[in-house]
Amino acid sequence: MAHFSEDISRTFSEYLLIPSLTTKDCVPHSVDLSAPLVKYKKGELPQIKLNIPMVSAIMQSVSNDGMAIELARNGGLSFIYGSQPIDKQAEMVAKVKKYKAGFVVSDANVTIDHTLQDVMELKARTGHSTIGVTHDGSSHGKLLGIISGRDYRPSKDDPSKKVSEFMTPYEQMVTGSFGITLNEANDIIWNNKLNALPIIDENRCLKYIVFRKDYDSHKENPLELSDANKRLYVGAGINTRDYKDRVPALLDAGADVLCIDSSDGFSIWQKETLEYIKANYPNALVGAGNVVDKEGFDYLVQAGADFIKVGIGGGSICITREQKGIGRGQATAIIEVAKARNEYYEKTGIYIPLCSDGGIAQDYHMVLALAMGADFLMMGRYFARFDESPTRKIMVNGNYMKEYWGEGSARARNWQRYDMGSENSGLKFEEGVDSFVPYAGKLKDNLAVTLGKVKATMCSCGSTSLPHLMEHAKITLVSATSIVEGGAHDVIVRDTNTNS
Ligand code: IMP
Repeated sequence: MAHFSEDISRTFSEYLLIPSLTTKDCVPHSVDLSAPLVKYKKGELPQIKLNIPMVSAIMQSVSNDGMAIELARNGGLSFIYGSQPIDKQAEMVAKVKKYKAGFVVSDANVTIDHTLQDVMELKARTGHSTIGVTHDGSSHGKLLGIISGRDYRPSKDDPSKKVSEFMTPYEQMVTGSFGITLNEANDIIWNNKLNALPIIDENRCLKYIVFRKDYDSHKENPLELSDANKRLYVGAGINTRDYKDRVPALLDAGADVLCIDSSDGFSIWQKETLEYIKANYPNALVGAGNVVDKEGFDYLVQAGADFIKVGIGGGSICITREQKGIGRGQATAIIEVAKARNEYYEKTGIYIPLCSDGGIAQDYHMVLALAMGADFLMMGRYFARFDESPTRKIMVNGNYMKEYWGEGSARARNWQRYDMGSENSGLKFEEGVDSFVPYAGKLKDNLAVTLGKVKATMCSCGSTSLPHLMEHAKITLVSATSIVEGGAHDVIVRDTNTNS
């Protein structure tokens, strides 16, 4: 006879936190949100620790190099999506590792033979008004000049005018030498009243441009997540099909941690992938999942996983439960797997971090997930709303939206994520939808609000660290009627769009 689970499958909205005593030292600015990313032995430190317990989802519509740079600068980490050719994914990883705060690779460039018309088109296409002039029009060609808005007058100048006739030529430019620090670059900018400083190497090839306007934003990022060489940390998603080619390419590109991406990770394919990686690249760090119970957890830990990702069917764009009837309420899944993780720690002295993946719809869900035993959270919808996600910003019914599509949607066609091992590979049916999410602006601004809420909630729970929260939080189930009580009720809410 089939096995029936005693538990009801529950999700975050069915729980609340009960406050504990808040003491004088329990204030938001003393809350430490650091969390282990990979397994470690009792008494030792994990090889990588996140400064905020957040990672961005392994999805085309969420995690490219731009998102990875901004999230790592703010203390979290992205897993660059794997549903793309190996060389493209490796290139994204390399871009993150090569990123130097304030040093921007010039991606709008022309040759001296281009025309003003070409410059105007390039400006419209890229949004950049500072344009490099190099011998071959590439980002790193020999620098011949620079064009800014002050070099031409669109209303007066002939569009067929050659770049060589109106650019500021190299001989009249101030440049910086490759290898100078951001502080030194900023001094040159200030001393020479520049808006942009091209950085060149010993062959006069353009390496970067440093912009005056970026000065403030690069001054400090106290939570920046970087390695011993001050390079940002970055992760990358892999699958159980092409890992023999993909893993070495990603490691060569500098990926710090990998994660096998699958909607159902309790499979022999994940075990084989983990064993292969651990045998051939013993220093590689690799997470596995997704699972939703003790059995799945134990299986992947046994196979060598460095962290375990938990969650099936809870993602905002996910229709796996409707399509296949598999999954588990995200809260119940975390609670059970965290129990298994704690038992494993008791038995072996090895702590396996858990990543709660999907289904975070409110900021307070984050604290619940962390209190229930997750070490960090993987989110797609949350990050998809920001400027830094790779998708288009579109006006829909008078409001700006960002595109957000599931890896199991026909748009992403990431069949490897849903692979059941058959010979005839390919996406047989969709497990995700193609959607919009409300545009929310810059990641940094939104994160500041979210982390403010998370810290305030933790203070209410009497905790200034995540391990303390996990150990001492008091959590209660809520009835359907008390959920109604939790929102504004029995009042007529004023329309905030009018002054009435
Ligand atoms: P969200 O944060 O609720 O939007 O969930 C993001 C998570 O949903 C990802 O990290 C994946 O685990 C999962 N996911 C991504 N694409 C799909 C899909 O097409 N179907 C089902 N789950 C998906």
